[in-house]
Amino acid sequence: MGPNIKGRYEPAPSAEGNTKRQGVEVGSHRSRRWVRRRRSLKVISLSCLACLAFIAFAQWKQILPPTRKPLPLLSSNQLQEDLRTCSELRKKPQDPRGIGRERNARHVQGHKPTLIRNATIWVGEPEPGTSPEEARAGKGYSWVRGDIFSQNGLIQRVESHISPDSVPEDTLIWDAGGRQLTSGIIDMHSHTGVSPLPDLAGTDDTNELSSDTTPYVRSIDGFDPLDPQIQVIKSGGVTTSLVLPGSGNNIGGEAFVFKHAVGDRDGRPEISARDMLADPDRNWRYIKMACGENPKRVYGRIGRGPFSRLGESWEFRHAFEQAADLVRRQDDWCRRADTLGLESMDEYLPRDLAWETLGAVLRGQVHVNTHCYTVPDLEAFVDHTNEFKFPVRAFHHAHQTFLVPEILKRAWGDRPPASALFADNMFYKAEAHVASEHAGKILWDHGLTPVYVSDNPVLNAQHVVFEAAKAYRYGLPYHAALASVTTAPADLLGLGQRLGKVKPGYDADLVVWDSDPLSVGATPLQVWIDGYAQFEDPVELDNKPVTNPITPDERLGESAEETEQVFQDVIFTGVTKILLRSSTIERRRTTNVVVTGGEIICIGTCTSRIEAAPSHRIIHLKNGYLVKAFTAFGATIGLNAIDYERDTDNGFNPKEFSRAIDGLTLDNKKLHAAHKYGITKAISAPRFMSALSHYGTSVGFVTDAQHALEKDAVWLEDVAVHYTVTLGAKSDAQPSISGVFSTLRKSLLKAAASVSSRGEEKEEEETAEPYSEQAYLRKVVKGELPLVLTAHSADVIAAALRLKDDVEKALVRKASDSSSSSSSSPARMRLVILGGAESHLVASELAAAEVGVVLAPFQSFATSWDQRRALTGAPLTNGTAIDALLDAGVVTAIGLEEDWLVRDLGLLAGIALKNSGGRLDEMTALDLVSRNIYTMLGIEEPKTVRFVVFEGSPLEIDGRVRAVSGRGQVSVYMRQ
Ligand SMILES: *[C@@H]1O[C@H](CO)[C@@H](O)[C@H](O)[C@H]1NC(C)=O
Ligand SMILES: *[C@@H]1O[C@H](CO)[C@@H](O)[C@H](O)[C@H]1NC(C)=O
Repeated sequence: MGPNIKGRYEPAPSAEGNTKRQGVEVGSHRSRRWVRRRRSLKVISLSCLACLAFIAFAQWKQILPPTRKPLPLLSSNQLQEDLRTCSELRKKPQDPRGIGRERNARHVQGHKPTLIRNATIWVGEPEPGTSPEEARAGKGYSWVRGDIFSQNGLIQRVESHISPDSVPEDTLIWDAGGRQLTSGIIDMHSHTGVSPLPDLAGTDDTNELSSDTTPYVRSIDGFDPLDPQIQVIKSGGVTTSLVLPGSGNNIGGEAFVFKHAVGDRDGRPEISARDMLADPDRNWRYIKMACGENPKRVYGRIGRGPFSRLGESWEFRHAFEQAADLVRRQDDWCRRADTLGLESMDEYLPRDLAWETLGAVLRGQVHVNTHCYTVPDLEAFVDHTNEFKFPVRAFHHAHQTFLVPEILKRAWGDRPPASALFADNMFYKAEAHVASEHAGKILWDHGLTPVYVSDNPVLNAQHVVFEAAKAYRYGLPYHAALASVTTAPADLLGLGQRLGKVKPGYDADLVVWDSDPLSVGATPLQVWIDGYAQFEDPVELDNKPVTNPITPDERLGESAEETEQVFQDVIFTGVTKILLRSSTIERRRTTNVVVTGGEIICIGTCTSRIEAAPSHRIIHLKNGYLVKAFTAFGATIGLNAIDYERDTDNGFNPKEFSRAIDGLTLDNKKLHAAHKYGITKAISAPRFMSALSHYGTSVGFVTDAQHALEKDAVWLEDVAVHYTVTLGAKSDAQPSISGVFSTLRKSLLKAAASVSSRGEEKEEEETAEPYSEQAYLRKVVKGELPLVLTAHSADVIAAALRLKDDVEKALVRKASDSSSSSSSSPARMRLVILGGAESHLVASELAAAEVGVVLAPFQSFATSWDQRRALTGAPLTNGTAIDALLDAGVVTAIGLEEDWLVRDLGLLAGIALKNSGGRLDEMTALDLVSRNIYTMLGIEEPKTVRFVVFEGSPLEIDGRVRAVSGRGQVSVYMRQ
């Protein structure tokens, strides 16, 4: 840690204390009092100095017996300590060396050595002799077959073959069977431990919001090693995280680098935050700062700042001014102490805990990580770095850095800040509205460093490597994508000689993967921290044979320069796979697809068709896939542009049952991105209270319309009736879950009572108020409209199934009451669960009740209490919710949990496929994001087949969208 700050301004001892304690201590207490007085002197005007000097002299005479030689005025112990602090203050930390250590400082005595045999290893650096330019271009990097021997918490040997005879007898041997091995993944932006999951008010310690500028608080002081998410994150191969305070403050506080091994079970001597420090010697310190929307939103009031970005810059500069002042006073003191000697010092080293950390920043001892999105934020902060002369290690979130590489290069210091990014999470607030999924590639092309981070729990850090995989999908070179979660963050943390590579001298943090870490669904088989295996009985997914590493596809880089061109008539050649579920289209193994007027008119060799279409644009594909377009269900696309910007949003409304069709807002970035990535249709419902909560009827619409009255823009005015019974259902008006059910049951039973077996009674009432909540509920009980309940908890789903049963029983009674009619049995109420984090617990009950589930999120990680029993997958759990649902025969789909996922539906279906243990094939996996939604809602799919053309599989990381069908036309993505 930094300089010793103990013993600052202890309370002055009382008079009795002074008389009781004689000797050395008296002098020291007395001198402290003297320091305090002296400080107060400074504020008194100079003109009175003479008289004050006289008073001081008089006091002096009283205190000290005139006959004795004066005692030293200051404590020599304290002065010695101050002098030691001076040398601490002057220290310029170096990245701690890895090689040359006999043992890792984290090593626990008694841990046995480990030999991992037959792994396919990503060392993390190019072969020797590669020039920096070549390395940047990816030359010299490769996966190599070999064995790894670790001992004392360190990698000792990485060789093509290590004979078991050459290692100690007690060595544990692990056969990787040719699987791929990387160093442990490093997540440079996490709140795990300070924001434990499931999220509860009592355990959240992310932001110290008592003041906008709190450099003096430390994430380690609130870090809970028992946060279950720490283990979940590790199950994704993440061994190390930088745990930052939140971004509510301009200066949020100190951050710490932890490894994800906790307590005895993980091979540690104790359950403690300190034991988890990646570098027990604490060579470097870290701090979190934040610009932009958050601090002004949290603190800005009339009369209280920061109210604006202007005020934020003042907060920064004011803070740095005070830290600079402290540094100057300390340096002056240390210099004087050095030249004059301690005995001549008439005061102690100036100390101020409030500005100590920022002082260390100015001394170059702290790696600064600043949350900044926009050009003005970046530019202002870079300005501050030059004004106060300190470097920034990385800008986090940094969505707009790809637009301003020159501003980054202007930052103070010898290296421009890196950008810590999400691959494609954007749109959620105004400052995330200007962003690009190609940001990583563009930054890289400018010689800058992208790293991918989770901001856990914003993203599940378990899958942070998937962010890197998507960065590769969006054009970042393969080796740079792997570096972005291994060597690059290691280097940015100042731990690049110890973490991030598989080389002798490095900490033995290792992951063996079941498939290429940048492939869809990659899952660790085992994870080691300091050479200690972290999972005692890891679940291994079935049906994942050893595969070759990805062959980097450089053409993915082209996607950043593509533009959309629209054609009515186009011919695709080189199509190798057709995944359309359509009886109207002949399914044959074929190579050409002819599109005329935006509709597919021929699949096959189509010779005569092609001859008859000389003006069609021809698009040649390599490994082309023709698939049915995706449908987005459950999010707010079509109802807003920027999630947290009210003016761009239809709004949420817990009071009024409404129809989404009346709130449609089309033609915005989200919808354009959705369309570009293959979502042509969406079903969205009005928001109830928060994200993923619904109340009203959903609308079915297309993603490429400019307004709702365009032809076929709305394909179904009312798709389903939505209610919410997640924790987000609790409102002032309806504070309990049981209350929500009570109201809903009453309304449904009333609707059931009003519906006769022939459906004719109360006809008047229906026509009078055809769009009322009650009218829609009548349609629900008549089986004409599905009821969609947003719910996660298995208990709540159980209550929903009971409610369904109650209503259906009432309908049966009603039917038998009016037995005069010859009606058949009443329709079953169609129910769909949206959310479904705990649905696996009631899978067979859901199947029996013929209730479908739309998983949103697809892979829950128990962020809220009602999701706490979610399955997070191998190696921790045997499968996830979808596996249990499929096994039980529940119709299952993947929902759009948050709107930014519009680019990812195909990949999510790909994860389902890869990790399904053979439950799914390509077609049934794609059904999860299209057909199954219609099946469970019981609605006809719109007649016209919408399609997407990919180069490569839509379910694989290197599948690339080349064309998406619209209404009467096709958008083709290509370079001009
Ligand atoms: C290494 O693994 C591969 C793939 O499973 C296997 O074919 C090979 O025989 C293994 N080699 C050794 C030395 O075990
Ligand atoms: C995982 O669950 C499946 C059933 O879904 C079962 O067949 C398999 O044996 C289980 N595997 C483990 C490791 O428990």
